[in-house]
Amino acid sequence: MTTKKTKLKKIKKAVFPAAGFGTRFLPATKAIPKEMLPLVDKPLIQYVIEEAADAGIEEIIIVTGMGKTAIEDHFDISFELESLLKEKGKKLLLKQIREISDRVTFAYTRQKQPLGLGHAVAITRNLVSNEPFAVLLGDDIIDAKVPAIKQMEKLYNKVNATVIAVQKVPKNQTHLYGVIQGVKIGPGTYRVTDLVEKPKSNPPSNLAIIGRYILTPGIFDAFEVTKKGKGGELQLTDALRTLLKTEEIYACEFEGDRYDAGDKLGFLKANISYGLKHSDISKDLKKFLKGLKL
Ligand code: G1P
Repeated sequence: MTTKKTKLKKIKKAVFPAAGFGTRFLPATKAIPKEMLPLVDKPLIQYVIEEAADAGIEEIIIVTGMGKTAIEDHFDISFELESLLKEKGKKLLLKQIREISDRVTFAYTRQKQPLGLGHAVAITRNLVSNEPFAVLLGDDIIDAKVPAIKQMEKLYNKVNATVIAVQKVPKNQTHLYGVIQGVKIGPGTYRVTDLVEKPKSNPPSNLAIIGRYILTPGIFDAFEVTKKGKGGELQLTDALRTLLKTEEIYACEFEGDRYDAGDKLGFLKANISYGLKHSDISKDLKKFLKGLKL
């Protein structure tokens, strides 16, 4: 393999694909984007954007679609609400609703047709331009001491190449994920030798791709020559497989608890777990859970 390495560039931009229909949550998501479902008191997408901001990312690019305007409204400034809160002296709430919009800048682009995760990332080419960038999937909520994307950045800084997040999953669940084959090069780090999107049988390992990626701009050329894959959609995993022909790819087994908030059970687990840490409600929630006659 010939790998052309360029000068190491800081990751400043992150792409958040948010155009999906959220069918797993219907009817709740008929009129509300699934990204706006609340995890205790903040919409899911805000946790993932805060993770990016905590890792030093400055520009947020959200790929939206039909019926997703609530996301843009959420990260915009609401003058009416702010003046009401000011009037009522609710300083903390005022700070909370403003904070994230002040920390990062937002750009939006629309995916006009549901052509897949790879396609959603591919259409951000002009916004990302020629620099490495992060992709964070809002379904994957990761509770970690060090933001998962920051843990990956540490590896990126060493290898100056694409880094994807992985986690070991039971073999009977590998068909739900992209799965890597890799050579272990250090604690929790692998050099990827192959990747398969949602293998029906014979997964190459139990290392599943989780929704965090640091991608080199080479991925955009890879999209151009990657054929449609699972579900007739352009898959990010398949484009990574194309990229692997010309660039190295690494995987980072991050430390932290991951919740699949795109799934009902995962969403409820995340709500309970985050609720138990939330100072306002933790005591009463614990009492309630203990009192459940299960
Ligand atoms: C997507 C990716 C898959 C990855 C998963 C992580 O699948 O295509 O490779 O393992 O996210 O959450 P989705 O869950 O969107 O079907």
